[in-house]
Amino acid sequence: MWKDRAALALVLAIAFSCLVPLKTRAAEATEVQFRGADSGQRASNAEFLWNLPTWAPRPVVPADNPMSTAKVELGRRLFYDREMSASGMMACATCHEQEKAFTDGKRVPVGISGAPGPRNAMSLTNVAYLPVLTWANPTLTRLELQALRPLFGLHPVEMGMNGREDQIFARLGADPVYRQLFAAAFPKTRGAINLTAIVRALAAFERTLLSFDSPYDRYKYGGDANAISDQAKRGEALFFGERLKCGACHSGVNLTDNLVHVARPRAPAVFHNTGLHNLDGKGAYPSPNHGIREFTKLPADEGRMRTPSLRNIALTAPYMHDGSIATLRDVVRLHYAQQGYAVERGQEPSPLRNRLIGGFEISEPELQDLLAFLDALTDTGFVTSPALSDPYMQVN
Ligand code: HEC
Ligand code: HEC
Repeated sequence: MWKDRAALALVLAIAFSCLVPLKTRAAEATEVQFRGADSGQRASNAEFLWNLPTWAPRPVVPADNPMSTAKVELGRRLFYDREMSASGMMACATCHEQEKAFTDGKRVPVGISGAPGPRNAMSLTNVAYLPVLTWANPTLTRLELQALRPLFGLHPVEMGMNGREDQIFARLGADPVYRQLFAAAFPKTRGAINLTAIVRALAAFERTLLSFDSPYDRYKYGGDANAISDQAKRGEALFFGERLKCGACHSGVNLTDNLVHVARPRAPAVFHNTGLHNLDGKGAYPSPNHGIREFTKLPADEGRMRTPSLRNIALTAPYMHDGSIATLRDVVRLHYAQQGYAVERGQEPSPLRNRLIGGFEISEPELQDLLAFLDALTDTGFVTSPALSDPYMQVN
């Protein structure tokens, strides 16, 4: 338990500080807790049943946290467990609801202290394929580490469990179901209940949040020419075409240029400024969201965010890192076609915007085509799958 505490302190130091000297400590801490974090990940899990279609790539899994059915089941319970928060009212699933493709439908979420967070809750669709996690943090490379933030984070307070680790361990240890699940998931440590085990189980569950069965998947990869409408096909052509250029960043199997899988385990993270905000004519974004500039301190990195996947995008409103756009129609019409809010106000577009963001004309019928395409990215099986749903709601 002591070791766990020490590691937690280090990990929290990385997670909540942007100070440069901490970068070296970050590397150390990651090593202590998760040896070989980003290496040798291909070996594990040949035997785990991923249930992926043949054309879908296999996710990378850290060598120190191989997948197992028992671990995934434990992770699912923890993910839906409201007692994992100081109020007893907030689970991971409170902000990541399955029916909304694991988002919360709010502009920004409110943590247990009542304070709103700075950014929109992200979809967890195919989160296993991301090189880095959250909107704009180039250093957060592992789901195991990410899980500590909502549980223990102070900026913002989400689940508010900082300083209550012993309470978590005691509660879980007193529950025979959990005791059994920890023992099955972590036989080598004889089911020891500690933070490492908790975040490993959560991450294993998150790696099963796999969505590859939208109508567009069936059309594009499954050989079913009729799986989407002609309207959606016209929208696809617009999306990937020269005028709109959406597909330049929302590319590949997950409709994002951020993609890691077994055949490309070290693909880099990619961040872009889409010109959403331009407060001062120099491209400033409203505080506290300055993109990866918060980490790099480079003015040119102002507003640069990780490209989100557009899978299940019709279910995840409101949109953008700050949740400032209510509908997909407005993402296209107000933001991309016009190049951001400044232009909406009659000012110049951001000088920091990516050169692919150049504005465009789009007619009403074309807009409807594009929206039909975005709708075809919805995987209803994913958002209703019992394997991913709340185990506390199910009659066993
Ligand atoms: C109070 C709401 C809230 C709770 C509770 C919450 N999250 Fe999140 N989650 C968010 C927000 C907001 C973001 C975006 C964070 C950012 O950009 O800093 C996010 C981002 C993520 C991401 C990154 C997704 C991506 O595409 O990079 C993962 C993974 C994640 N959360 C998992 C979890 C897990 C696991 C738990 C429970 C231990 C949890 N979340 C609890 C609101 C929440
Ligand atoms: C230069 C790369 C780039 C191009 C081109 C681009 N996007 Fe994006 N897209 C991003 C990034 C980065 C974000 C997140 C930006 C933010 O929140 O500030 C984003 C966000 C979005 C979102 C909101 C996602 C969410 O989860 O909230 C939608 C929807 C979207 N883009 C659709 C499109 C469409 C449609 C086009 C073409 C008209 C397009 N994008 C062109 C990079 C790009």
